[in-house]
Amino acid sequence: QNKTSPYALMGGDATLDPLVEAFYGYVKNHSDLTHLFPDDLTETKDKQKKFLTQFFGGPQAYTEEYGHPRLRARHMPFVISPVQADAWLACMEKAMDDVHLSGEIREFMMQRLTLTAHHMVNHASAPR
Ligand code: HEM
Repeated sequence: QNKTSPYALMGGDATLDPLVEAFYGYVKNHSDLTHLFPDDLTETKDKQKKFLTQFFGGPQAYTEEYGHPRLRARHMPFVISPVQADAWLACMEKAMDDVHLSGEIREFMMQRLTLTAHHMVNHASAPR
């Protein structure tokens, strides 16, 4: 594996696993997000760990198991406005604090995630 990928630079699964765990802890309790997610987040977390692994240049873990991500299409069943995108990103910032991600790698990751979050927006506005 590429030792200079963002995935490697963040610390691989040793960072990504607790990051995703912390992230969904915040998502589950965020008033702009909680209604969108299932009670049991086991599979959601597994998918997100595998997706972010490949998104950040690690092994193609998501595609191997679930096929092409088609991320925007997979989000179309949910009403996602800029409110939800900002909430998603706020949860990710808190999770990054929890796992002590900082510096350039954090900035790079947040930039990529911010672009993707905005790409998931499929409604101009949504009730809170
Ligand atoms: C799945 C919401 C942004 C990656 C989901 C699901 C919801 C959701 C409700 C389905 C959960 C489930 O039933 O298991 C949102 C909202 C976002 C957002 C409100 C705000 C913009 C993102 C971003 C990424 C992402 C930025 C990646 C960088 C994924 C992945 C899945 C998923 C990989 C699993 C897809 C599948 O295989 O079914 N998201 N999401 N999401 N989301 Fe998001």
